Amino acid sequence: MPKYVVLSALLCATASVASADGKTADLPALDPQTNPYNIRDGKVDFETYNGYRRYGGACARCHGPSGTGSSFAPALMDSVEQLDYAEFVNVVVNGKNIESGSRNRVMPAFGTNPNVIQHINDIWGYLQARADGAIGPGRPERIR
Ligand code: HEC
Repeated sequence: MPKYVVLSALLCATASVASADGKTADLPALDPQTNPYNIRDGKVDFETYNGYRRYGGACARCHGPSGTGSSFAPALMDSVEQLDYAEFVNVVVNGKNIESGSRNRVMPAFGTNPNVIQHINDIWGYLQARADGAIGPGRPERIR
């Protein structure tokens, strides 16, 4: 076997390899309860980055940028420390409507919205990373 073939095989075995779908191959499997996100040198995995994007697309207009909250809706980076995963999913699927005084603030139900539901674990992971202080506000850097 020519030497360069051996060398490139070795490089592939040790380097962090991005596969065709953009995910990084050598990171531990994600689990909403035990490992909601992966972070290396301040950079997040594909899923957590996706969670940041999905959060920005569907949640930020009410819950504020980067999970920080607004005058209208609570800071989800704090909420995910109080709610467990099942409770979080339940609110996002079914919505929530609390009347407080003259203000009727509605959390919409996203149960039939594929842009949210198919990515709910990624959004959860992103908010967990924010809650833990693993990443700051704004666009996180991605592990390549
Ligand atoms: C139209 C505005 C709006 C949008 C968009 C929205 N929310 Fe909400 N959400 C609210 C409001 C208002 C509440 C507070 C309801 C209450 O308890 O009074 C809330 C509450 C919640 C709660 C419960 C928080 C707690 O501490 O109990 C969760 C979880 C949540 N939202 C997740 C999400 C996620 C995830 C998204 C994006 C997929 C999202 N929301 C998008 C308005 C919104």
